[in-house]
Amino acid sequence: MKTIRFGIIGCGLMGREFASAAARWMHLTDTKARPEIIGVCDKNEALMGWFTTHLPSVTQTTTDFRDLLANPEIDAIYCAVPHVLHADIYPQIVAAGKHLLGEKPFGMDRAQNEAIDAAIAARPDVLVRCSSEMPYFPGAQKVIDFVRSGAVGNVLEVEAAFLHSSDINPDKVINWKRDVNVNGAYGCMGDLGMHVCHVPLRLGWRPDRVHASLVKQITQRPDGKGGMAPCETWDNATITGNVPSENGNFPLVLKTWRIAPGESNTWSLRVLGMNGSAFFTTKSPRQWQFMQYEAGGRQTWQVEDLGYQSLFGSITGGIFEFGFADAIQQMWAAFVDELAGGDAGGFHCATPSEARAHHNILTAALASGTSGQVVPVDYAR
Ligand SMILES: NC(=O)c1ccc[n+]([C@@H]2O[C@H](COP(=O)([O-])OP(=O)(O)OC[C@H]3O[C@@H](n4cnc5c(N)ncnc54)[C@H](O)[C@@H]3O)[C@@H](O)[C@H]2O)c1
Repeated sequence: MKTIRFGIIGCGLMGREFASAAARWMHLTDTKARPEIIGVCDKNEALMGWFTTHLPSVTQTTTDFRDLLANPEIDAIYCAVPHVLHADIYPQIVAAGKHLLGEKPFGMDRAQNEAIDAAIAARPDVLVRCSSEMPYFPGAQKVIDFVRSGAVGNVLEVEAAFLHSSDINPDKVINWKRDVNVNGAYGCMGDLGMHVCHVPLRLGWRPDRVHASLVKQITQRPDGKGGMAPCETWDNATITGNVPSENGNFPLVLKTWRIAPGESNTWSLRVLGMNGSAFFTTKSPRQWQFMQYEAGGRQTWQVEDLGYQSLFGSITGGIFEFGFADAIQQMWAAFVDELAGGDAGGFHCATPSEARAHHNILTAALASGTSGQVVPVDYAR
């Protein structure tokens, strides 16, 4: 089996998730290649000890990401750093000839995304993908297959949501994701938008105009040092887009909420159509729901337990549940498979052009949310 040697830039929450997925690669049964993490980088030196302790393959640690880019042994980079840094670091990774799985949102605004795109265009030999793991849940794949089979007929509405709730606590200490200078003016849309746009864009549903309702409840948070700090970013966004279709336009509702009471990390996708409807939520991770309708017939939702029907085969018994860490690993399997010349199991990771389209949607949504107007989405660039 081919080995693809990785460097990780950003050893925080998501850097550790990738390391864990790579460390249990034996979980997967039908992969063309395996990742080996040989270098790690973080500004915070203390974070790298966890990697060297758990991954004997790591031979390089550095606080300067350019050291990883200069290492000829490294084939590919996973970069998981705060949004404001994407536009500086991603182009350097690509220019160095390293394949890249970059964390979303690929720049904290459209101008930064353009800078990343320019670097990618200059290196067509480098594979670049954007992280978005939730569609790798088996139930999400069922909804996608259902749509692709034509079972939906004319679409009535699509809703994609990503809901968090920990921000309802006013005592939660602030972090960079609530700082407009680091996270970006999109706020919750930048953080969660790729998660809700990925599948609609993959299925060809591009809104031509949007209206967004942006919610701001918490204006300051504890700074962790005994004081308070301004909390500037949008808490919740509900975007309603109009998707043109020759069979009748339909609404695409995108919800990115950080204050959704009771929700810890709920990603859901609901497609309603004249002939068929389908729904998946990570709240019921092994199930999906669907309905097939014929004129005059009964309207009955069916619920199916799927168990572990992953894109890439694994040792897990088919009856067992699939979870977040599995979705991360399946996304990684898709990226590594592409690097090894495969077809990513039929569902490749989000592309730079999908990341660009999601910026176009979010840029219009931000303008709509602040002006109260319906705003056309400009896909020209
Ligand atoms: N796919 C997902 O489900 C998901 C979930 C959470 C976050 N993310 C994304 O992952 C990225 C990182 O988020 P996180 O939650 O891991 O953040 P984090 O704060 O836990 O980790 C970011 C790390 O980057 C390091 N860093 C900052 N500047 C650096 C530099 N110049 N060089 C090297 N390291 C540097 C920080 O020290 C920190 O350890 C963001 O783009 C975020 O949107 C994705």
